[in-house]
Amino acid sequence: MRLLLIGAPGAGKGTQAERLAARFGMTHISSGDLLRQHVRDQTALGRTVKSYVDNGDLVPDGVVMDMLRKPVLAATRGYVLDGFPRTVEQAEASYAAVRSLGVEVQAAIHLDVPREELIRRLLARGRGTEDAEAVIEHRLQVYQEKTVPLLAYYAGREWMSTVDGSRSADTVHEDIVRRIQKLAAFVASP
Ligand code: AP5
Ligand code: MG
Repeated sequence: MRLLLIGAPGAGKGTQAERLAARFGMTHISSGDLLRQHVRDQTALGRTVKSYVDNGDLVPDGVVMDMLRKPVLAATRGYVLDGFPRTVEQAEASYAAVRSLGVEVQAAIHLDVPREELIRRLLARGRGTEDAEAVIEHRLQVYQEKTVPLLAYYAGREWMSTVDGSRSADTVHEDIVRRIQKLAAFVASP
């Protein structure tokens, strides 16, 4: 299973990706976690991306795609990709790259959560500079501008499903499992 999780900051992508990875033995690949790790380790990549991540801006597409290539290829038992693609451009570029490797994504889940709940969750979490109130506002604005068009671009695809992410993490998990079972059956059918 190769699964994409799409959702606003605080929608629960990381929370749900971890549970899915544990349940199905897939690799959890989070673009944000990998970027933050590079920043902590002060790698060359980390120094390039630090100001983007701290300010809640999107890192340039090429940087993210180069960073993800290796873990995606290494995930031979499938993956749940959290935080990528985030724009129509990333979706188109990665589709071309992934197709050329003979790998196709099987399903995408959009985690839908109201804005007030996103803000409440992020303020409660408080992940450093990134979760300062002004940066949260900016991340939500970037999501509206860059990622909401991706949802429109994917709308109506048979392998895409929207889940109400405002419920408990357990309820959301069970709902995602039901959806991906249906979506996987669809993709696997001739
Ligand atoms: P990224 O790490 O992807 O951050 P994000 O999209 O802002 O999302 P978060 O990780 O904050 O939230 P989440 O949806 O994972 O929710 P979580 O499970 O943690 O990206 C960070 C930065 O990296 C970006 O700003 C950008 O700079 C860069 N970047 C990343 N990908 C990129 C890309 N493709 N292109 C360019 N740049 C990129 O949950 C949040 C909180 O809510 C937690 O405390 C959790 O415990 C709680 N919670 C979760 N689910 C529930 C629930 N059901 N009920 C109650 N609480 C819940
Ligand atoms: Mg996350």
